[in-house]
Formats: sequence, C-alpha cells, structure tokens
Amino acid sequence: MEQKGSRNSFNGSIGFVLAAAGSAVGLGNIWRFPYLAAKDGGGLFLVVYLVLALTFGFTLLTTEIAVGRKTKQSPLTAYSNIKKGWGWLGGFACIVPMMIMPYYCVIGGWVLKYFLVFLTGHGQEATADDYFTGFITNQTDSSVMMFIFLVIVAFVIYKGVNAGIENISKIMMPILLILVIGIAVFSLKLSFTADDGTVRTGMEGFKILVIPDFTDITVKGFFTVVMDAMGQLFYSLSVAMGIMVAYGSYVKDDASLAGAINQIEIFDTAVAFLAGVMIIPAVYVFMGRDGMSAGPGLMFVSLPKIFVQMGKLGNIIGCIFFLMVLFAAITSAVSILEAVVSSFIDKFHMSRHNATLLESVIALVLAVIVCLGYNKFYFELTLPNGAVAQILDIMDYVSNNVLMPIVAIGTCILIGWVVGPKVVLDEVEKTGRKLIRRHLYIIMIKFVAPILLAVLFLKSVGILTFI
Ligand code: PHE
Repeated sequence: MEQKGSRNSFNGSIGFVLAAAGSAVGLGNIWRFPYLAAKDGGGLFLVVYLVLALTFGFTLLTTEIAVGRKTKQSPLTAYSNIKKGWGWLGGFACIVPMMIMPYYCVIGGWVLKYFLVFLTGHGQEATADDYFTGFITNQTDSSVMMFIFLVIVAFVIYKGVNAGIENISKIMMPILLILVIGIAVFSLKLSFTADDGTVRTGMEGFKILVIPDFTDITVKGFFTVVMDAMGQLFYSLSVAMGIMVAYGSYVKDDASLAGAINQIEIFDTAVAFLAGVMIIPAVYVFMGRDGMSAGPGLMFVSLPKIFVQMGKLGNIIGCIFFLMVLFAAITSAVSILEAVVSSFIDKFHMSRHNATLLESVIALVLAVIVCLGYNKFYFELTLPNGAVAQILDIMDYVSNNVLMPIVAIGTCILIGWVVGPKVVLDEVEKTGRKLIRRHLYIIMIKFVAPILLAVLFLKSVGILTFI
C-alpha cells in the first residue's frame, strides 16, 4: 500500500520535469498545434498562445502541482484534503482521465500502426486514398494495435513511479527532442518544383508559420484565435484532469516548484513550436497552401503522402516521425493512467498492481467499444459545435469541452476564493524561492482564469455563439 509517509517520490527534479513534460507533450503538440497555427494567422496565433501560456497556463499548472505536493494525494482524494466538502471536484478530476484513457489508447494504436508500416518499408501503401479509413473501420486491426499500446503503458505504470514513469520519461523525452529538432531542420531545407513549374521551399512555409497574417482579421476573428489558443493550451498542459496533481504528489518537499514549472512550460511550448516548424514547411512544400487546411486528417492522411514524395529517404523520415509521435503518445498515456491508478491506490487502498490491472481492464473494454464505433456501432451524431461525431469524438468532446472546464473552474474557485491563493503560494515558496509572477498568479486565479474558462466552456457547449 502506498500511503502518506511511505509515498513514492521522483528521484530528482529532472525526473519530475521530464515526466510532466512527457505528459504535456503529446498528440496535441505535434498534430493540433501546427494545424491551428496555420489556420489562425501564423505568428498571430503564436503570440497569443505565448501570452496565454505565461499567464493562464502558468496559473493552472502551478495550482495543480502545488495541490498535489501539499496534500501528497492523488486527484480523487486531494481536493477534499484541501477543503472538506470539495471531494466532488476530485471525483470529476478522476473521471476525466478515465474517459480519456480508452480513446487515447485507440489513437496511440493508430500511431503504432503507422510506425510499423514505415518501419517495415511499406510507407507507399499508407498513401492510398482510403488506407486510413480502411484501417480504422477494420474490426480487428485497430483493436489489436490499441491493445499492444495499452499493454506497454500499463506495464510502465505497473513498474511504479521511479522504475516506470521516471525511467521511461528520462529515456523517451530527450530522444523525442532530438528527433523533433532533426526533422524540423530537414523540413526547412526542403524544396519542390510543382507540375506548373513553381518552386516552393521550406523557408517559405516557415514564414507562413511565424509571420503574423492580419489580412481579413476582424474582432470576431481575433476572438476565435484567442479561444483556439486557450483550448489548445488547456489540452496541451494536461491540466484539469488530475494528472498534474498526481505527479505533483510525488515531488519531494525540498524541490523548487517554481523552477520546475518554468521548465515544463518551456519544454511543452518549444516542442509545439518545433512541431510546427517540422510539419508546416513540409506540408507547404509538397501540397501548397491548400494542404494546410487538412485539419484532423493531417497526421494520418497528408503526412504519409508527403513522406513518400520524399523518395527513399521518406520511409526513414516517416519511421522516425512516427517513432517520435509514439514516444509522445506513450508518455502522455502513462500520465493519464497514473492519475487513475494513484486515485484507486489512495482512495481504496489497493495495491499498485491491482489498481493498474483494474483500470487497464476498464480502459480495454471501453477502447474496444471506441474501435467498434467505426464499424459495428457506427453512427453519426452532430455535436453542439457542429462537428459530426463517432464514439471517439463524443468521448473527446465530453471530456475536453464539458468536464475539463468544470474541473478547472472549480479549482479556480476553490483556490482563489474558498481557501485563498496563499495556500498554493506558500506551498510553491516553501523552499525559499519566491514566485516571480506572484501578483499575476493571484489576479489570474481569482478573476481572469475563471472568466476565460467560463467563456471557453459556454462557447464549446454551443451556448455562446457570437464569438
Ligand atoms: N497534453 C497532451 C497533448 O498535448 C494530451 C493529453 C491529453 C495528455 C490528456 C494527457 C491527457 O497532446
């Protein structure tokens, strides 16, 4: 039993930073960030994102990590420990990762499949028009890949905080960083002559990513950029789903939280930006501006086509790319599973082994249902935001757009108004290092963050439609 006193902790600050960054850096950074940046006026989105990361993101991340370390509890029990009667918030914070885990494993399985396809030199096949649809609608293929992915993740959690989470993060995150830098440099150097004779270069694509595009920008358009950036940030930092509380609970009391939080933020934002440098120029070079509007199909449909166009080298680049994405997905999934497993351990006094087994079985059953959502259980449902959804999208929508904002707003009210920001500030500053953004934190947690979150929430459930 892992109880207070005998609780595990990360061996060092680096282990914690890499584990938290491993959680934060995921599919959101590599696939969603570049596509939003291209859609929302390049540099304009980057600036808005950066400002929000340093204010809004910093506030939420600081709060959760501090709540975890102060209580030395997992999400399910941490909030009631901060204030009696707030256990419900912990309940929500634990349901979110339970809901995300199944479909994250399904997507992890897709990544694994593409990695194997390129590894075995079959990249060409993945470029056929209906390859991706064929794969996900096949009854067994995607379930088998999902299962393998889940087993890898469960094994890491089964090994525990140090031998599992910390070790794997220390190996995978540095490799991921090197790979993403390598492909980004490669992408910048690309050039291609289209059928009509025009030459497109990687550097031109880079400009689209970084130079602000103010053409046709309206007030409404600007709000869309802000909302997109905020939604992305929220997802990217892995807040509002108990993860940072769970990881924070494994941080030693003498470690400096302020420094660690900065490093996590920098790591997450840097990888998102580098992913943009990696993807946008490549898409632009081979597909022109049109390719950029690919949206969700980008990773599994457009990119394989681009890799194959690179010729022989393409198979290797594709293989390296999907390996990197796989690492990002594994370390994120590990954190999701840990949020649930640590909750089971703390609340029900289960052993780590039993808790891992229980949640893995729950995730497996739900993940099979998600896979079947593309064949046996196929249906189309229009969500309040207008998207046509299958089971995976519905779970994604409910967790991200409904439950996560509720958890985040609840946390802001609890810390900002019920117990007061001092609780968090004292925890962060107890090693003696003062928080530089102290005043900013207080204003953000009490006023700005809850208001921004409420707007985001109302917009994503379709109540606010004018921005
Ligand atoms: N933060 C991760 C990303 O940016 C995604 C994630 C979601 C991780 C949910 C953990 C839990 O992709």
